[in-house]
Amino acid sequence: MNVLVTGGAGYIGSHAVKRLLEAGHKVVVVDNLYRGHKPAVPKHVPLEELDLRQTSALTNALTHHDIECVMHFAALAYVGESVSQPLMYYDNNTWGTMSLLQACRQAAVQKFVFSSTCATYGEPAQMPIVEDMPQAPINPYGASKLFVERILKDYAHAHPEFAFAALRYFNVAGSAADGTIGEDHDPETHIIPVLLNVALGKVPRVTVFGEDYPTPDGTCIRDYIHVEDLVDAHVQVMQRLQPGDQRFYNLGIGKGYSVKQVVDAARKVTGHAIPTKVGPRRPGDPPTLYANADKIRRELGWQAGYTDIERIIETAWRWFQSHPNGYEEP
Ligand SMILES: NC(=O)c1ccc[n+]([C@@H]2O[C@H](COP(=O)([O-])OP(=O)(O)OC[C@H]3O[C@@H](n4cnc5c(N)ncnc54)[C@H](O)[C@@H]3O)[C@@H](O)[C@H]2O)c1
Repeated sequence: MNVLVTGGAGYIGSHAVKRLLEAGHKVVVVDNLYRGHKPAVPKHVPLEELDLRQTSALTNALTHHDIECVMHFAALAYVGESVSQPLMYYDNNTWGTMSLLQACRQAAVQKFVFSSTCATYGEPAQMPIVEDMPQAPINPYGASKLFVERILKDYAHAHPEFAFAALRYFNVAGSAADGTIGEDHDPETHIIPVLLNVALGKVPRVTVFGEDYPTPDGTCIRDYIHVEDLVDAHVQVMQRLQPGDQRFYNLGIGKGYSVKQVVDAARKVTGHAIPTKVGPRRPGDPPTLYANADKIRRELGWQAGYTDIERIIETAWRWFQSHPNGYEEP
């Protein structure tokens, strides 16, 4: 299939490009490089340096490359930034996706796979989280994604040939097992890369936000899904999309690890003491979040290969050791 990957120069998008190429698909990347890295895109893959909001240039790219499916990863994804700059998030993530959909309509692209998030659920009353639980995001980032889910439903309703999947990711972690690409965010807010930056000596210590949560060890529990499992799910979903499909799936491993467990695992993998200090709770951090991922297993047979946090961290550590400055030249 000819697939256009938005955000293909970013962390997850670059892993999707790699997986799609391995599966024999033709890939084109759209990325404005605001938070992406050119070297994350293989040289032989066309990179269209465009913004999602450039509708007619996107239409041309979709038409020119004869695109059959769009995998849409491009977004801004910092919760805190979304609280201080909500308009930037709605403009980039929500309006940006509307522009992309308009381009898809003009170029007659009928398949669409969207990066949604568990942040659309907000603070659910029950665990694990099942797809049909109420979605009540508590920050503009989650809301910007939930609006897109709604827009996709309405668009699909009006265009019966269109098919989409909204995949609600939990905490994405790890790197390509061969160490060629990985996570390189600035600033970095995800716990595993922050821990590994401490192990590399780039950051003195890690702050654990809250030790007094109602969890067995007092720290927050999250569901960590390996990025290669996540992108595998995208490829499987894409291959199964049929006209009229509206699919919603959680992507997680179905169990959680506490912050303390993740810290201990990172210490074991790196052999580094990784000092921590305890800070206050962050507003809007629920004690526990983990997925029920039965729906995608039942319907598509997808299952996470990585369920052990140490194995996930090992892949990330390989990337961090070989690329201590990320994609930058040392
Ligand atoms: N990383 C996670 O744990 C996680 C969890 C849930 C959902 N997600 C979603 O997954 C997707 C990818 O996340 P990531 O961690 O790879 O982020 P990332 O920042 O590494 O990648 C996003 C890419 O999109 C590009 N981009 C952003 N806005 C754009 C625009 N308007 N036009 C063109 N390009 C644009 C950026 O330059 C970047 O390369 C996002 O949609 C995010 O919301 C991520």
